[in-house]
Amino acid sequence: MQPITSRELDEAISDALSIVRSNIPIYRVFCQNHSSIGGIYPRCENDQWTCGFWPGELWLSWELSHDPVFLEAGTAMVPSFANRIERKICVDHHDMGFLYTPSCVSAWMMTGNELAKQSAIAAANQLLTRWQPKGQFLQAWGRMDAKDNYRFIIDCLLNLPLLYWASEVTGDDRYGLVARKHTHTCLTYSFRPDHSTYHTYFLDPRTGKGLRGETCQGYRADSSWARGQAWAVYGLALSFRYTHNPELPALFDGALGYFLSRLPEDLVPYWDLIFQSGSEPRDSSSASIVACGLLEMARLVEEKKEAYEEMAEKLMGSLVRSYRVRPGDTANGLVLHGTYSKKSPYNSCTEEGVDECVSWGDYFYLEALTRLKKSDWRSYW
Ligand code: GLY
Repeated sequence: MQPITSRELDEAISDALSIVRSNIPIYRVFCQNHSSIGGIYPRCENDQWTCGFWPGELWLSWELSHDPVFLEAGTAMVPSFANRIERKICVDHHDMGFLYTPSCVSAWMMTGNELAKQSAIAAANQLLTRWQPKGQFLQAWGRMDAKDNYRFIIDCLLNLPLLYWASEVTGDDRYGLVARKHTHTCLTYSFRPDHSTYHTYFLDPRTGKGLRGETCQGYRADSSWARGQAWAVYGLALSFRYTHNPELPALFDGALGYFLSRLPEDLVPYWDLIFQSGSEPRDSSSASIVACGLLEMARLVEEKKEAYEEMAEKLMGSLVRSYRVRPGDTANGLVLHGTYSKKSPYNSCTEEGVDECVSWGDYFYLEALTRLKKSDWRSYW
């Protein structure tokens, strides 16, 4: 696969900006559904775990263009996120980072928006309520006293930057401490000897000891869900930036190597890495997430910078050439062929958003393009 060229990068950014621009009057201060239906995102209230990605796209678009239409639209979303955390609307889960990092940490970084900052701190406080001292982890889903949901999931690595950020801006180390302890538990249990990952991991609520890995959105408990592996890759890079834990670069290389070893020729994975050929749907969002992880790690490990960047450029070359939405397509997302949740005989998810645009897929694709265009881009994560 040829790396993305600078001309392709500029064309892809230009297409993306024009789609985001034309979506502004459709969504206004509402959100995009987690995934499209027939290529078009229904409008939704601010009550899904994915609602932060649309404002995240607005902030990235503002940084790429300095067109005030994006600044105004991104700023207009902040009160909705303030209202959500103040009124605790659908926040009884761990996804505070996915929600508040691209919507509010970004707004605060760009403009010093105080409401955005306070809302993101409140979201970090909310995330602390998911802490289970017995077992030392942030519980992903369900009631905190639900014995049958005593688990964390690999995706949570992307929620931790909100905690590190909260420690930085408040000077209170409680947030960062929880993030570091959760990471330790995740490193203990989520990774198999071959560097593949469990999607979810149960602990014993009585003893706090690890019990077993299970999957929700992957094919089987012992396979590796493509996006889970991608969250691991990007999450390890971000954890390394915050903690400098010397174990992390080798773990990053292991998780990355497993992901890359299971890709089909065009470098865009099937929805679970158990599939390497055939007609199962792809999950293009995983390729964008891994590209972001590579570009983050390239800044942190000087001796591997070139290799990581080249791999990211290849992943993005494939996405830009064969997966991006082009003018005239019946789709208002940025990238085709994402998969939210695909039912298998062995998993527990509800099937949704199969072979569609997915809102985080669009966001991380645009983040990867932004990272490639602006080598000094300041991460929201
Ligand atoms: N964090 C949920 C997902 O990646 O589908």
